[in-house]
Amino acid sequence: MDQPAALSVTRDMFGQTAAGQPVWRYRLHNRQRMSVDIITYGARIHAIRVPDMNGHVDDVTLGFDDIAGYESADDAYFGAVIGRYANRLGGGRFCLDGQDIQVSTNEGDNTLHGGETGFSARVWAAESFSTHSTVGVELTYFSPDGEMEFPGNLAVTVRYALDDANRLRIHYSAVCDRATPVNLTNHVYFNLAGAGMPSVLEHIAMINAAGYTPVDAQMIPTGEIADVAQTPLDFTRPGRIGAFIDADHEQIARAGGYDHNYVLATEGDISRLAVRVIEPESGRGLEMFTTEPGVQFYTGNSLPGGFIAKDGKTYAPRSAFALEAQHYPDSPNRPDFPNTILRPGEKYSQSTVYRFLPDLPAAGTFLDGP
Ligand code: BGC
Repeated sequence: MDQPAALSVTRDMFGQTAAGQPVWRYRLHNRQRMSVDIITYGARIHAIRVPDMNGHVDDVTLGFDDIAGYESADDAYFGAVIGRYANRLGGGRFCLDGQDIQVSTNEGDNTLHGGETGFSARVWAAESFSTHSTVGVELTYFSPDGEMEFPGNLAVTVRYALDDANRLRIHYSAVCDRATPVNLTNHVYFNLAGAGMPSVLEHIAMINAAGYTPVDAQMIPTGEIADVAQTPLDFTRPGRIGAFIDADHEQIARAGGYDHNYVLATEGDISRLAVRVIEPESGRGLEMFTTEPGVQFYTGNSLPGGFIAKDGKTYAPRSAFALEAQHYPDSPNRPDFPNTILRPGEKYSQSTVYRFLPDLPAAGTFLDGP
């Protein structure tokens, strides 16, 4: 099978938005026959192709074949960078330096993933790069003061880098000119048996977290940090995702499965393993490492299934999972949660690495820093 002689990055036109904006696709290749497609609409991961234990390559991420899909109501933030504030803000409101601020709401009275038109629905500027051990693409977006009613201008950079150890590193940075909440993540959905396979319930997950942030009936954190021990949310030891997904437990019932922010024991140490998921049939695995204090583990409970997506596939509920490395939801309203307010003169910075298994011995193994 053809194995590229070098790390490479290519670019082609992916399409255009309904408003006529051109959208580019960047394809990153490594020497392990892994490739990653990034599109400039929403700075999205459009595809990740990775070999299984027999060398068979499949795309393991959900998406659409064209921009119209990503712009449609069926889009569940597939692969997207989420901002200005990932996850939920209760009532779309917070008090910042004594001022009450109301931002765009898009889920009842609450704000989900940045409001009506978040970063996931913007066209980003992009440029490819390569270093001695990675290839990548750097995307930038300027979010103006008052966009979705958030205060201050925010300049955002997201850098995707692929290396020969099957690691995809996402580095996010941002600066502002007025205090504003910032919480960035990526919403890529995986099925390690191949996107479009009917279920992830047989995948085995380990989440390095003893606690999580329980939610109320509207999926807004109650403010408590609860223990996962003795609950269906406990993945401190590897377990089948499907084992307790329908358990009689208030938090599970509210979300229709897993849709919870885990409080990572790694405490921002990106060298420590945060999450590992293995798909036993294909032998594919995914590890996540992050600087973030939390991860939203979402089992695609509300994927509707009734539309045709990438490669003619349909996506049933629970046919994919997302691992959204992030600060906790609703933090601006929770002084006890780690701070999410960025101030002028400071730099927002977060890194998350997805590492795919089985990884084969690689030529250049080290990812460059951010
Ligand atoms: C949220 C889910 C939501 C989904 C939208 C996830 O990050 O936690 O509640 O349904 O995004 O696609």
